[in-house]
Amino acid sequence: MGKKVTVVGAGFYGSTTAQRLAEYDIFDTVVLTDIVEGKPEGLALDLNQSRPVEGFETKVVGATTGPNGEGYEAIEGSDVVIITAGLPRKPGMSRMDLLGVNAKIVRQVAENVAKYAPNAVVIVVSNPLDEMTALAQIATQFPKNRVLGQAGMLDTARFTHFVAETLSVKIGDVRTLTLGSHGDTMVPVPSRCTVNGKPLSELLPADKIEELVTRTRNGGAEVVALLKTGSAYYAPSAAAARMAKAVAEDSGAVMPVCAWVDGEYGISGVYLGVEAEIGADGVRRVVETKLTDSELAGLKEAAEAVRAKQADVVDL
Ligand SMILES: NC(=O)c1ccc[n+]([C@@H]2O[C@H](COP(=O)([O-])OP(=O)(O)OC[C@H]3O[C@@H](n4cnc5c(N)ncnc54)[C@H](O)[C@@H]3O)[C@@H](O)[C@H]2O)c1
Repeated sequence: MGKKVTVVGAGFYGSTTAQRLAEYDIFDTVVLTDIVEGKPEGLALDLNQSRPVEGFETKVVGATTGPNGEGYEAIEGSDVVIITAGLPRKPGMSRMDLLGVNAKIVRQVAENVAKYAPNAVVIVVSNPLDEMTALAQIATQFPKNRVLGQAGMLDTARFTHFVAETLSVKIGDVRTLTLGSHGDTMVPVPSRCTVNGKPLSELLPADKIEELVTRTRNGGAEVVALLKTGSAYYAPSAAAARMAKAVAEDSGAVMPVCAWVDGEYGISGVYLGVEAEIGADGVRRVVETKLTDSELAGLKEAAEAVRAKQADVVDL
């Protein structure tokens, strides 16, 4: 049987993710759902009509869903479900400002995913990311390895882009890593940042690196301020689609994701941005990388900051 992936939410993030997944041409079916009647069906029809031009066989199915789970039959048997449903930020808003409204949406979606796609790996992207990932696990009651969030790959990609642009080198020559939370407690890992194998610290002065870290940390807000009506989706959808691909192909790819941490780095019981090996069951294992003392301290600080917020989502 071929693989089936569902993208819940047919907004900018969801529709671009569905497009990327369809164009990979590794799935039998990509299902796109939304509560706005006709929107997912219309986008699916449009995407299907791109098949002869782009040359992929994957079929895209659109389905409108209702408040009581109407329409969710369409997601039955999904191997992966990506949750993008929820409001994006407006200029001046923090991701945490979305907590109340998106918690209601994500809980309702997650409960239906548990009912209709009980074996799926769930990839959450709705913001605030760490909290919505924790909430999706609570609402689905799926094993923690089968619920993960997308943030680290995006933050890492932004950092890599800024380094490549600053040094006028090829993207492929740059390696960076960010861990921690999506937001203020993002933890850059300078000891893992290299250009053609050379430490970044030998190529740029410390204050310039700090400037790029700050720009990365505010990377989402910079795009929001320019767009004025919504948030980024090209880089975010690229990251989520790659995670779904790793699950579908059971590839064991190691990527920075928001995963349940249970003892690694001396941290336990919290969803946190770490590197993890991704396979058919979601997170195969959290991969501990060697950190300097200050990087480890930053990661522990991030863990405590998100732990407090994640404890509150139980009641949302
Ligand atoms: N994790 C990340 O790195 C990252 C990056 C960018 C955006 N985001 C987040 O992703 C989310 C989506 O962003 P977007 O740009 O696509 O927003 P958008 O407004 O374009 O789309 C959101 C869609 O969700 C739909 N929706 C609302 N409630 C729903 C429900 N109950 N079931 C199904 N669909 C529902 C809406 O109708 C809308 O079409 C936001 O919360 C945004 O903050 C996360």
